[in-house]
Amino acid sequence: TAPLRLGIAGLGTVGTGVVQILRRHAALLEARTGRAITLSAVSARSRDKDRGVPLKDYGWEDDPVALARRDDIDVFVELIGGDEGPALDAVKAALATGKDVVTANKAMLAHHGRELAEMAEAAGRVIRYEAAVAGGIPVIKALTEGLAANEITRVMGVMNGTCNYILTRMQATGQGYNALFEECAKLGYLEADPNLDVGGIDAGHKLAILAAIAFGTAPDFDGIEIEGIQHIQLEDIHQAADMGYRIKLLGVAQRTGRGLEQRMQPCLVPADSPLGQLEGGTNMVVIEGDAVQQLVLRGPGAGQGPTASAVMGDVCDIARGLRLATFGQPATTLETLPAARSALP
Ligand code: NDP
Ligand code: HSE
Repeated sequence: TAPLRLGIAGLGTVGTGVVQILRRHAALLEARTGRAITLSAVSARSRDKDRGVPLKDYGWEDDPVALARRDDIDVFVELIGGDEGPALDAVKAALATGKDVVTANKAMLAHHGRELAEMAEAAGRVIRYEAAVAGGIPVIKALTEGLAANEITRVMGVMNGTCNYILTRMQATGQGYNALFEECAKLGYLEADPNLDVGGIDAGHKLAILAAIAFGTAPDFDGIEIEGIQHIQLEDIHQAADMGYRIKLLGVAQRTGRGLEQRMQPCLVPADSPLGQLEGGTNMVVIEGDAVQQLVLRGPGAGQGPTASAVMGDVCDIARGLRLATFGQPATTLETLPAARSALP
Protein backbone atom coordinates (compact mmCIF):
# COMPACT_ATOMS: atom_id res chain seq x y z
CA THR A 1 0.00 0.00 0.00
CA ALA A 2 1.23 3.51 -0.79
CA PRO A 3 2.28 5.59 2.23
CA LEU A 4 -0.13 8.18 3.62
CA ARG A 5 1.67 11.51 3.13
CA LEU A 6 1.05 14.37 5.57
CA GLY A 7 1.57 18.12 5.37
CA ILE A 8 1.58 19.87 8.75
CA ALA A 9 0.77 23.59 9.03
CA GLY A 10 1.66 25.01 12.46
CA LEU A 11 4.72 23.84 14.36
CA GLY A 12 3.97 25.13 17.84
CA THR A 13 3.03 23.08 20.91
CA VAL A 14 0.78 20.65 19.04
CA GLY A 15 2.51 20.58 15.64
CA THR A 16 5.93 19.70 17.09
CA GLY A 17 4.22 17.08 19.26
CA VAL A 18 2.80 15.46 16.13
CA VAL A 19 6.22 15.50 14.41
CA GLN A 20 7.70 13.84 17.50
CA ILE A 21 5.13 11.02 17.43
CA LEU A 22 5.62 10.50 13.69
CA ARG A 23 9.37 10.12 14.22
CA ARG A 24 9.18 8.05 17.42
CA HIS A 25 6.43 5.67 16.35
CA ALA A 26 6.87 5.26 12.58
CA ALA A 27 7.06 1.45 12.80
CA LEU A 28 4.22 1.16 15.31
CA LEU A 29 1.94 3.40 13.22
CA GLU A 30 2.60 1.32 10.11
CA ALA A 31 2.00 -1.93 11.98
CA ARG A 32 -1.29 -0.68 13.43
CA THR A 33 -2.72 0.90 10.27
CA GLY A 34 -1.16 -1.29 7.59
CA ARG A 35 0.28 1.78 5.92
CA ALA A 36 3.44 3.85 6.35
CA ILE A 37 2.62 7.40 7.50
CA THR A 38 5.15 9.91 6.21
CA LEU A 39 5.63 13.67 6.47
CA SER A 40 6.18 15.44 3.14
CA ALA A 41 6.29 19.10 4.13
CA VAL A 42 5.57 21.60 6.91
CA SER A 43 4.68 25.27 7.32
CA ALA A 44 4.99 27.85 10.10
CA ARG A 45 5.62 31.59 10.35
CA SER A 46 9.34 31.48 11.06
CA ARG A 47 11.59 29.06 9.22
CA ASP A 48 14.59 29.78 11.45
CA LYS A 49 13.08 29.03 14.84
CA ASP A 50 14.63 26.11 16.74
CA ARG A 51 11.65 23.92 17.51
CA GLY A 52 13.51 21.05 19.17
CA VAL A 53 12.59 18.64 16.36
CA PRO A 54 14.65 18.00 13.20
CA LEU A 55 12.81 19.43 10.17
CA LYS A 56 15.49 19.39 7.46
CA ASP A 57 14.15 16.12 5.98
CA TYR A 58 10.83 17.72 5.08
CA GLY A 59 9.74 20.27 2.51
CA TRP A 60 8.94 23.81 3.71
CA GLU A 61 6.25 26.33 2.75
CA ASP A 62 5.96 29.82 4.23
CA ASP A 63 2.32 29.89 3.17
CA PRO A 64 0.00 27.22 4.63
CA VAL A 65 -2.30 27.55 1.59
CA ALA A 66 0.63 26.56 -0.66
CA LEU A 67 1.26 23.58 1.62
CA ALA A 68 -2.41 22.58 1.43
CA ARG A 69 -2.26 22.62 -2.37
CA ARG A 70 0.92 20.52 -2.75
CA ASP A 71 0.44 17.34 -4.71
CA ASP A 72 2.83 15.35 -2.51
CA ILE A 73 0.41 15.32 0.44
CA ASP A 74 -2.74 13.25 1.06
CA VAL A 75 -3.72 14.70 4.44
CA PHE A 76 -3.47 18.35 5.48
CA VAL A 77 -2.95 18.68 9.25
CA GLU A 78 -3.99 22.17 10.40
CA LEU A 79 -2.41 23.19 13.72
CA ILE A 80 -2.22 26.97 13.32
CA GLY A 81 -5.38 28.09 15.13
CA GLY A 82 -7.78 31.01 14.72
CA ASP A 83 -11.35 30.93 13.46
CA GLU A 84 -10.55 32.88 10.28
CA GLY A 85 -7.42 33.73 8.30
CA PRO A 86 -4.68 31.32 7.22
CA ALA A 87 -6.10 28.27 9.00
CA LEU A 88 -9.53 28.52 7.36
CA ASP A 89 -8.08 29.49 3.96
CA ALA A 90 -5.68 26.56 4.03
CA VAL A 91 -8.30 24.01 5.13
CA LYS A 92 -10.58 25.13 2.30
CA ALA A 93 -7.68 24.93 -0.16
CA ALA A 94 -6.86 21.42 1.06
CA LEU A 95 -10.44 20.17 0.60
CA ALA A 96 -10.69 21.91 -2.78
CA THR A 97 -7.55 20.10 -3.98
CA GLY A 98 -8.68 16.65 -2.82
CA LYS A 99 -6.94 16.30 0.57
CA ASP A 100 -8.41 14.94 3.77
CA VAL A 101 -8.04 17.32 6.74
CA VAL A 102 -7.17 16.78 10.38
CA THR A 103 -7.41 19.80 12.68
CA ALA A 104 -7.33 20.69 16.38
CA ASN A 105 -8.92 24.08 15.71
CA LYS A 106 -12.10 24.33 17.78
CA ALA A 107 -12.55 28.05 17.09
CA MET A 108 -12.69 27.42 13.34
CA LEU A 109 -15.03 24.44 13.73
CA ALA A 110 -17.40 26.20 16.13
CA HIS A 111 -17.88 28.94 13.54
CA HIS A 112 -17.43 27.11 10.22
CA GLY A 113 -17.77 23.40 11.11
CA ARG A 114 -20.93 22.68 9.15
CA GLU A 115 -19.69 24.56 6.06
CA LEU A 116 -16.37 22.70 6.13
CA ALA A 117 -18.07 19.34 6.67
CA GLU A 118 -20.31 20.02 3.66
CA MET A 119 -17.29 21.03 1.57
CA ALA A 120 -15.54 17.82 2.58
CA GLU A 121 -18.57 15.70 1.77
CA ALA A 122 -19.01 17.35 -1.62
CA ALA A 123 -15.34 16.69 -2.38
CA GLY A 124 -15.51 13.09 -1.16
CA ARG A 125 -12.99 13.89 1.59
CA VAL A 126 -13.17 13.93 5.40
CA ILE A 127 -12.38 16.53 8.03
CA ARG A 128 -11.49 15.02 11.42
CA TYR A 129 -11.04 16.93 14.68
CA GLU A 130 -10.72 14.69 17.72
CA ALA A 131 -8.10 17.02 19.24
CA ALA A 132 -10.44 20.01 19.10
CA VAL A 133 -12.42 18.88 22.17
CA ALA A 134 -10.95 17.80 25.52
CA GLY A 135 -7.37 17.23 24.35
CA GLY A 136 -6.38 13.59 24.71
CA ILE A 137 -9.87 12.26 25.55
CA PRO A 138 -11.39 10.48 22.51
CA VAL A 139 -14.79 12.07 23.07
CA ILE A 140 -15.66 12.68 19.41
CA LYS A 141 -15.02 9.02 18.67
CA ALA A 142 -17.14 8.02 21.66
CA LEU A 143 -20.08 10.12 20.44
CA THR A 144 -19.87 9.28 16.74
CA GLU A 145 -18.95 5.61 17.00
CA GLY A 146 -19.40 3.95 20.38
CA LEU A 147 -22.64 5.78 21.22
CA ALA A 148 -24.05 5.90 17.69
CA ALA A 149 -27.11 3.89 18.73
CA ASN A 150 -28.17 6.30 21.49
CA GLU A 151 -30.42 9.30 21.56
CA ILE A 152 -28.17 11.67 23.49
CA THR A 153 -29.97 13.68 26.14
CA ARG A 154 -27.11 15.63 27.70
CA VAL A 155 -23.38 16.37 27.33
CA MET A 156 -21.66 18.28 30.06
CA GLY A 157 -18.31 18.75 31.72
CA VAL A 158 -15.08 20.62 32.26
CA MET A 159 -13.54 21.32 28.85
CA ASN A 160 -10.80 23.88 29.39
CA GLY A 161 -7.53 22.77 30.97
CA THR A 162 -6.29 26.31 31.57
CA CYS A 163 -9.34 27.29 33.63
CA ASN A 164 -9.27 24.09 35.64
CA TYR A 165 -5.55 24.52 36.25
CA ILE A 166 -5.99 28.12 37.38
CA LEU A 167 -8.95 27.38 39.65
CA THR A 168 -7.30 24.38 41.34
CA ARG A 169 -3.86 25.99 41.69
CA MET A 170 -5.32 29.25 43.04
CA GLN A 171 -6.88 27.25 45.82
CA ALA A 172 -3.82 25.07 46.47
CA THR A 173 -1.14 27.79 46.33
CA GLY A 174 -2.88 31.13 46.76
CA GLN A 175 -1.20 32.36 43.54
CA GLY A 176 -2.91 34.96 41.36
CA TYR A 177 -3.79 34.93 37.68
CA ASN A 178 -0.50 36.28 36.32
CA ALA A 179 1.76 33.69 37.94
CA LEU A 180 -0.63 30.91 36.93
CA PHE A 181 -0.80 32.15 33.34
CA GLU A 182 2.98 31.70 33.18
CA GLU A 183 2.68 28.12 34.43
CA CYS A 184 -0.07 27.38 31.89
CA ALA A 185 2.08 28.83 29.11
CA LYS A 186 4.98 26.55 30.11
CA LEU A 187 2.63 23.56 30.09
CA GLY A 188 1.47 24.45 26.57
CA TYR A 189 -2.16 24.91 27.67
CA LEU A 190 -2.87 28.50 26.61
CA GLU A 191 -4.62 29.65 23.47
CA ALA A 192 -2.71 32.27 21.44
CA ASP A 193 -5.16 34.72 23.06
CA PRO A 194 -5.56 33.53 26.70
CA ASN A 195 -8.71 35.65 27.03
CA LEU A 196 -10.38 32.89 25.05
CA ASP A 197 -9.48 30.49 27.87
CA VAL A 198 -10.46 32.52 30.93
CA GLY A 199 -13.40 34.12 29.14
CA GLY A 200 -15.01 30.70 28.66
CA ILE A 201 -14.91 31.18 24.87
CA ASP A 202 -12.59 28.25 24.16
CA ALA A 203 -14.71 25.94 26.30
CA GLY A 204 -17.78 27.35 24.52
CA HIS A 205 -16.25 26.45 21.15
CA LYS A 206 -15.82 22.89 22.38
CA LEU A 207 -19.35 22.69 23.74
CA ALA A 208 -20.75 23.93 20.41
CA ILE A 209 -18.90 21.14 18.60
CA LEU A 210 -19.96 18.42 21.03
CA ALA A 211 -23.56 19.58 21.01
CA ALA A 212 -23.64 19.63 17.21
CA ILE A 213 -22.45 16.02 17.06
CA ALA A 214 -24.60 14.84 19.94
CA PHE A 215 -27.83 16.46 18.75
CA GLY A 216 -27.36 16.49 14.97
CA THR A 217 -27.46 20.27 14.64
CA ALA A 218 -24.99 22.73 13.11
CA PRO A 219 -22.55 24.11 15.74
CA ASP A 220 -24.28 27.12 17.30
CA PHE A 221 -21.64 29.00 19.27
CA ASP A 222 -23.76 32.16 19.45
CA GLY A 223 -26.53 30.17 21.13
CA ILE A 224 -24.35 29.43 24.17
CA GLU A 225 -24.74 31.45 27.31
CA ILE A 226 -21.10 32.04 28.32
CA GLU A 227 -19.53 33.37 31.49
CA GLY A 228 -15.78 32.98 32.12
CA ILE A 229 -13.70 32.70 35.28
CA GLN A 230 -11.88 36.02 35.02
CA HIS A 231 -13.96 37.61 37.79
CA ILE A 232 -13.42 34.80 40.26
CA GLN A 233 -11.16 35.83 43.13
CA LEU A 234 -9.18 33.80 45.65
CA GLU A 235 -11.74 34.80 48.26
CA ASP A 236 -14.58 33.22 46.24
CA ILE A 237 -12.61 29.99 45.96
CA HIS A 238 -11.91 29.88 49.71
CA GLN A 239 -15.52 30.66 50.59
CA ALA A 240 -16.70 27.85 48.34
CA ALA A 241 -14.16 25.48 49.94
CA ASP A 242 -15.37 26.42 53.44
CA MET A 243 -18.86 25.29 52.41
CA GLY A 244 -17.53 22.02 50.93
CA TYR A 245 -17.60 23.10 47.28
CA ARG A 246 -15.21 23.75 44.39
CA ILE A 247 -15.71 26.27 41.59
CA LYS A 248 -15.51 24.73 38.10
CA LEU A 249 -16.11 26.16 34.64
CA LEU A 250 -18.86 23.76 33.63
CA GLY A 251 -20.51 23.40 30.24
CA VAL A 252 -23.91 21.80 29.66
CA ALA A 253 -25.77 21.09 26.42
CA GLN A 254 -29.09 19.36 26.89
CA ARG A 255 -32.26 18.46 25.10
CA THR A 256 -35.21 20.23 26.69
CA GLY A 257 -38.90 20.37 25.82
CA ARG A 258 -38.25 23.69 24.08
CA GLY A 259 -35.08 22.78 22.17
CA LEU A 260 -31.32 22.53 22.72
CA GLU A 261 -30.05 24.53 25.69
CA GLN A 262 -26.30 25.32 25.92
CA ARG A 263 -24.51 26.98 28.84
CA MET A 264 -20.88 27.47 29.90
CA GLN A 265 -20.42 29.09 33.30
CA PRO A 266 -18.59 28.82 36.64
CA CYS A 267 -20.52 26.51 38.96
CA LEU A 268 -20.27 25.23 42.51
CA VAL A 269 -19.75 21.46 42.63
CA PRO A 270 -19.35 19.32 45.77
CA ALA A 271 -15.66 19.05 46.71
CA ASP A 272 -15.84 15.27 47.12
CA SER A 273 -17.58 14.62 43.75
CA PRO A 274 -15.61 13.41 40.69
CA LEU A 275 -15.97 16.88 39.16
CA GLY A 276 -14.88 18.56 42.39
CA GLN A 277 -11.76 16.42 42.52
CA LEU A 278 -10.64 17.25 38.98
CA GLU A 279 -7.13 18.73 39.29
CA GLY A 280 -4.86 20.75 36.99
CA GLY A 281 -5.33 20.54 33.23
CA THR A 282 -7.62 17.52 33.48
CA ASN A 283 -10.96 17.56 31.64
CA MET A 284 -14.10 15.53 32.29
CA VAL A 285 -16.93 14.95 29.84
CA VAL A 286 -20.19 13.35 30.95
CA ILE A 287 -22.47 11.95 28.23
CA GLU A 288 -26.00 10.75 28.85
CA GLY A 289 -27.83 8.60 26.31
CA ASP A 290 -31.12 6.73 26.42
CA ALA A 291 -29.50 3.31 26.10
CA VAL A 292 -26.06 3.72 27.67
CA GLN A 293 -27.36 5.86 30.56
CA GLN A 294 -24.34 7.82 31.80
CA LEU A 295 -20.73 7.72 30.63
CA VAL A 296 -17.85 9.67 32.22
CA LEU A 297 -14.65 10.35 30.29
CA ARG A 298 -11.72 11.89 32.14
CA GLY A 299 -8.18 12.73 31.06
CA PRO A 300 -5.63 15.37 30.06
CA GLY A 301 -7.48 18.15 28.28
CA ALA A 302 -4.56 20.18 26.95
CA GLY A 303 -0.81 20.14 26.32
CA GLN A 304 1.52 18.71 23.73
CA GLY A 305 1.41 14.94 24.18
CA PRO A 306 -2.33 14.49 24.78
CA THR A 307 -3.31 16.78 21.91
CA ALA A 308 -0.82 15.25 19.47
CA SER A 309 -2.13 11.83 20.50
CA ALA A 310 -5.65 12.84 19.43
CA VAL A 311 -4.42 14.36 16.15
CA MET A 312 -2.55 11.17 15.30
CA GLY A 313 -5.57 9.04 16.23
CA ASP A 314 -7.45 10.82 13.42
CA VAL A 315 -4.52 10.37 11.03
CA CYS A 316 -4.49 6.64 11.84
CA ASP A 317 -8.23 6.36 11.13
CA ILE A 318 -7.68 7.96 7.73
CA ALA A 319 -4.75 5.60 7.07
CA ARG A 320 -7.06 2.67 7.86
CA GLY A 321 -9.64 4.00 5.41
CA LEU A 322 -12.28 5.03 7.99
CA ARG A 323 -14.28 7.80 6.38
CA LEU A 324 -16.82 8.59 9.06
CA ALA A 325 -18.35 12.04 8.73
CA THR A 326 -19.27 13.92 11.88
CA PHE A 327 -21.18 17.14 11.20
CA GLY A 328 -22.37 15.39 8.04
CA GLN A 329 -25.27 13.66 9.72
CA PRO A 330 -28.75 14.82 8.73
CA ALA A 331 -29.97 17.90 10.56
CA THR A 332 -32.64 17.26 13.17
CA THR A 333 -35.67 19.36 13.93
CA LEU A 334 -34.18 20.21 17.33
CA GLU A 335 -33.90 23.97 17.62
CA THR A 336 -30.94 25.53 19.38
CA LEU A 337 -32.26 27.99 21.93
CA PRO A 338 -30.80 31.48 22.07
CA ALA A 339 -28.44 32.21 24.98
CA ALA A 340 -30.58 33.08 27.99
CA ARG A 341 -29.75 33.48 31.65
CA SER A 342 -30.85 30.46 33.62
CA ALA A 343 -29.59 28.63 36.70
CA LEU A 344 -28.07 25.17 36.47
CA PRO A 345 -30.34 22.38 37.67
P1 NDP B 1 1.00 27.53 18.96
O1 NDP B 1 0.75 28.98 19.11
O2 NDP B 1 1.96 26.87 19.87
O3 NDP B 1 1.45 27.21 17.46
C1 NDP B 1 0.84 27.82 16.36
C2 NDP B 1 1.72 27.55 15.15
O4 NDP B 1 1.09 28.12 14.00
C3 NDP B 1 3.12 28.17 15.24
O5 NDP B 1 4.07 27.23 14.79
C4 NDP B 1 3.07 29.35 14.28
O6 NDP B 1 4.31 29.61 13.63
C5 NDP B 1 2.07 28.84 13.25
N1 NDP B 1 1.43 29.94 12.53
C6 NDP B 1 0.77 30.99 13.03
N2 NDP B 1 0.35 31.78 12.02
C7 NDP B 1 0.78 31.21 10.88
C8 NDP B 1 0.69 31.55 9.52
N3 NDP B 1 0.06 32.65 9.11
N4 NDP B 1 1.25 30.73 8.60
C9 NDP B 1 1.90 29.60 8.98
N5 NDP B 1 2.02 29.23 10.27
C10 NDP B 1 1.46 30.02 11.20
O7 NDP B 1 -0.45 26.82 19.07
P2 NDP B 1 -0.80 25.38 19.61
O8 NDP B 1 0.10 24.38 19.01
O9 NDP B 1 -0.97 25.43 21.07
O10 NDP B 1 -2.29 25.21 19.00
C11 NDP B 1 -2.50 24.91 17.65
C12 NDP B 1 -3.97 24.59 17.45
O11 NDP B 1 -4.33 23.50 18.30
C13 NDP B 1 -4.94 25.72 17.84
O12 NDP B 1 -6.07 25.65 17.01
C14 NDP B 1 -5.34 25.37 19.27
O13 NDP B 1 -6.57 25.89 19.64
C15 NDP B 1 -5.41 23.86 19.14
N6 NDP B 1 -5.30 23.11 20.38
C16 NDP B 1 -4.26 23.36 21.24
C17 NDP B 1 -4.14 22.62 22.39
C18 NDP B 1 -3.04 22.86 23.35
O14 NDP B 1 -3.10 22.24 24.43
N7 NDP B 1 -2.05 23.68 23.06
C19 NDP B 1 -5.11 21.56 22.72
C20 NDP B 1 -6.14 21.36 21.74
C21 NDP B 1 -6.23 22.12 20.62
P3 NDP B 1 5.62 30.12 14.42
O15 NDP B 1 5.95 28.99 15.37
O16 NDP B 1 6.65 30.30 13.39
O17 NDP B 1 5.21 31.37 15.14
N1 HSE C 1 -6.36 26.24 25.75
C1 HSE C 1 -7.02 24.97 25.76
C2 HSE C 1 -7.25 24.55 27.19
C3 HSE C 1 -6.21 23.96 25.03
O1 HSE C 1 -6.63 25.12 28.09
O2 HSE C 1 -8.06 23.65 27.42
C4 HSE C 1 -6.90 22.63 24.86
O3 HSE C 1 -7.98 22.73 23.99
